[in-house]
Amino acid sequence: MEIVLSGIRPTGNLHLGNYFGAVQSFVQLQHDYKCFFFIADWHSLTTHPKPENIRRSVKTILAEYLACGIDPEKATIYVQSDVPEVLELYLYINMNAYLGELQRVTSFKDKARQQPDNINAGLLTYPSLMAADILIHKANYVPVGKDQEQNMEMARRFARRFNMMYGTEYFIEPASFHLSEKAVKVPGLDGSGKMGKSEGNAIYLADDEQTIKKKVMKAVSDSGPTEPDSPKPEPIANLFSMLEIVSAKSTYDYFNEKYNRCEIRYGDLKKQLAEDINKFCSPIRERIIEISSDEAYLNRVARAGAEKASESAAATIREVRSIIGFGA
Ligand code: TRP
Repeated sequence: MEIVLSGIRPTGNLHLGNYFGAVQSFVQLQHDYKCFFFIADWHSLTTHPKPENIRRSVKTILAEYLACGIDPEKATIYVQSDVPEVLELYLYINMNAYLGELQRVTSFKDKARQQPDNINAGLLTYPSLMAADILIHKANYVPVGKDQEQNMEMARRFARRFNMMYGTEYFIEPASFHLSEKAVKVPGLDGSGKMGKSEGNAIYLADDEQTIKKKVMKAVSDSGPTEPDSPKPEPIANLFSMLEIVSAKSTYDYFNEKYNRCEIRYGDLKKQLAEDINKFCSPIRERIIEISSDEAYLNRVARAGAEKASESAAATIREVRSIIGFGA
């Protein structure tokens, strides 16, 4: 069976944009591929060398992915730092990674600009660690956003280089799986653009009913159309996109018709939208609460994931050592 792998940055709670952008695809993929999903806690040290309660953030992310439907019996879900074999491959990759090419990576240049006092070697070799994450399980596909394409190029390049260097065909080149092309784009409700954590406009899966309502009621709208069948300005189009995602088609059609007849009342639309978002989120939220409170279960899932991942990783390291010439 072909292998899919993806890394998850432990940067806070999942929001609806994450859910429809990636998480839902992961849940689908686990039925058709051998999947590895891991929480990239080492990578976070490149920007946060003294993470505050990283164990807690990792657990939260784990609980949320499980609540969304990642099945630890089907997919291998693990924490990167539980599988130290990755570091050995990281070392071998770094021995054949060149300063010039690493310095040319756009995300390195961006980060170097953002944190001029901490341009550390981990930041520079971020693509090597990411390549190690991928190659250690010989993943065929990596679902990533467009922003990761250059890192994927590097992973393929490092795989090719290893093969050339040691005269082998050992590593396959991992292909990118562009989620963004297929995924539903969740808009922000602040007038323009998409939903995101850094945009400050996110509705989180763990948000309670009151919070959802508050966020939706203050969504940007306008004074309404003055001509029948007018095109929708972006903030209004965004409200309708949101209805399309979480509400019944009849609800969408109802408000659309009101809009086209210039009879729309955004207060009513928002009330309905808040209700439908809550209806969508509440079963997930309940599972998040349930799973988060079961520390023993979370530990069990993490341990089992680490075991499966280590098994696969250890096999690769054994072979890589032998290819390079270490050991007996
Ligand atoms: N760099 C990825 C991001 O910022 C996270 C990541 C780390 C990753 N290792 C990976 C993604 C391996 C895919 C495969 O989102």
